[in-house]
Amino acid sequence: MSCCGEAAEHGAGDGGQRKLLEQVVVEANERVATGVGLLALRAPRMAASVRPGQFVHLRIAEGTAFILRRPFSVHRARGETIEVLYQVVGVGTRWLAEREPGDAMDAIGPLGSGWRIPQGAAHALLVAGGLGAAPLGMLAEALAERGVAVSVAQGAPTAERLVAAGLFEDVARRVETATDDGSAGVRGFVTALVPALLEQDRPDVVYACGPEPMMCAVARMAAEAGVPCQVSLERLMACGVGACLSCTVSTRSGLKRACADGPVFDAVDVVWAQDEVEGLKR
Ligand SMILES: Cc1cc2nc3c(=O)[nH]c(=O)nc-3n(C[C@H](O)[C@H](O)[C@H](O)COP(=O)(O)OP(=O)(O)OC[C@H]3O[C@@H](n4cnc5c(N)ncnc54)[C@H](O)[C@@H]3O)c2cc1C
Ligand code: FES
Repeated sequence: MSCCGEAAEHGAGDGGQRKLLEQVVVEANERVATGVGLLALRAPRMAASVRPGQFVHLRIAEGTAFILRRPFSVHRARGETIEVLYQVVGVGTRWLAEREPGDAMDAIGPLGSGWRIPQGAAHALLVAGGLGAAPLGMLAEALAERGVAVSVAQGAPTAERLVAAGLFEDVARRVETATDDGSAGVRGFVTALVPALLEQDRPDVVYACGPEPMMCAVARMAAEAGVPCQVSLERLMACGVGACLSCTVSTRSGLKRACADGPVFDAVDVVWAQDEVEGLKR
């Protein structure tokens, strides 16, 4: 399947898009699940140019305590505002959780390549594991705006930790849920939902974001069904702009930089850790 104009525009790297250093201002910062916050940032210039799947690199604090910025997917863009869903995992995200309306921070973005929407796609399947829902929010909206039917498979440890479920319900034709404890949807991993969705909805493209073993499993299922699949990969990042090589991803055409060549990759190009383990066993 060939790709549309938008894909050609940002099919590799960032397509020459200008990266902005912008002073952004907190408009709201709400807890949306255990340990997860939704940060609304006034960022007029970034909001105007960000594409689904891109990320921003936030400077966490003044001074030298946090030299490295922290990368976060843009969950949604609305008018002059971008939204970031963040899970509190360490010092930087704890600092984010303490920000209040009116606080300023500096951000570089939009960074990376985004999701590509293949020309002629009529139906898309989005597979979100945990905070993997973050970069899929804006994509779900963009697909629906173009008239692409959206199915979503979403998984989380518990019902309370399902994030962005309302957004998916609003724009998707079908949302299926799995939780580890069965408190919402079926009990088990989100990957268990995928075979039936591939068979029943016959999507033209699959998009996945979540833990890497989940994405690897989804990539294999999509490949078996003959459906192209894109994945958004997370790596530790230092510069965020392609200069330091701290974020490399093994691909069939060599090492790539998650920040500049990704974070979205075609799943067939990725050499998964599982592939390497299985290769060693052979
Ligand atoms: C492209 C991209 C998009 C991301 N989008 C989101 C998002 O939308 N929401 C979200 O909650 N998280 C997202 N992350 C992960 C987020 O960047 C890290 O959780 C965050 O940097 C942790 O900062 P910290 O100071 O709280 O944690 P630290 O105290 O630095 O570390 C705590 C834990 O977080 C991991 N971590 C630290 N820095 C990074 C990093 N740069 N990349 C990946 N893991 C890291 C560490 O390995 C450690 O396990 C994304 C990462 C990437 C690469
Ligand atoms: S973070 Fe520096 S090259 Fe990707």
